[in-house]
Amino acid sequence: MTDRYSVIGRPISHTKSPLIHGLFAEVTDQDLTYGSIEGSLDGFAAQVRGFRDEGGRGMNITAPFKLQAFELADARSERASLAKASNALKFENGKIYAENFDGIGLLRDIEHNLQTPLAGLQVLVLGAGGAVRGALLPFLAAGPARLVIANRDLNKARTLAKEVNHERLWVSAYEDLAGQHFDLVINATSASLTGELPPIGVAVFTQALLAYELAYGKGLTPFLRLAQDAGVPRIADGVGMLVEQAAEAFEWWRGVRPQTRPVIDRLTVPLE
Ligand code: ATR
Repeated sequence: MTDRYSVIGRPISHTKSPLIHGLFAEVTDQDLTYGSIEGSLDGFAAQVRGFRDEGGRGMNITAPFKLQAFELADARSERASLAKASNALKFENGKIYAENFDGIGLLRDIEHNLQTPLAGLQVLVLGAGGAVRGALLPFLAAGPARLVIANRDLNKARTLAKEVNHERLWVSAYEDLAGQHFDLVINATSASLTGELPPIGVAVFTQALLAYELAYGKGLTPFLRLAQDAGVPRIADGVGMLVEQAAEAFEWWRGVRPQTRPVIDRLTVPLE
């Protein structure tokens, strides 16, 4: 019987997940369908259970339901637990398992696709929200020399750093970034969604090899434009992260890892 999967979010019409997973299924010869469900703000848990009870095998979860998905699960991975959020569920043996592949997807995109291994690098991450929570464990495991989180609300960043408690994890106010140099600068704030620039100056890019924007499909965001103007040799948006997190979920569900490059190439919109 054909196995069923779906993404659920609100709004969901813009989702690329059915396209990505459809391509993965085709190239790996997996017998599955992958659809999309518009989530209900007061009926999310019932929708997930309903999908499972009708034979669903797994789901991807997108905004604003990642926290609820994490909470309704019976068992959770360590990285989902730190993120307090889940972007992928698996239904197996009558249980709901929660994972979070956002961070590992971002890491894979940076290290493999963009050929920038984190080991020994000075890394600056802007933002301390859900996206950063999801990324910290895989990032620290990759061995950067230092990972600095900058956030407007400094207490939020401090709380997160305390939870993780790692000697190479630091917190900085935006105004204290002056004079510090980074090899990699990642914008994990939601500023680009409203066309804003986090409060950084061009100086953070002095030594940068790569500037990475988590948002995707927004073209040259103010962050990427600043990086480009500063002469950063490589800039990237989050399309690769999107495809890599999907590949992680696909492998978790199906036990086979699809190639990501052709799918990334298909979805990439030039940054201009
Ligand atoms: P996500 O799940 O995408 O991380 P979130 O949890 O709502 O979203 O977090 C949004 C992040 O973007 C926060 O770190 C927020 O900073 P504050 O905690 O200081 O509010 C950050 N953010 C949003 N708009 C921003 C802006 N214009 N400049 C800088 N940071 C911004």
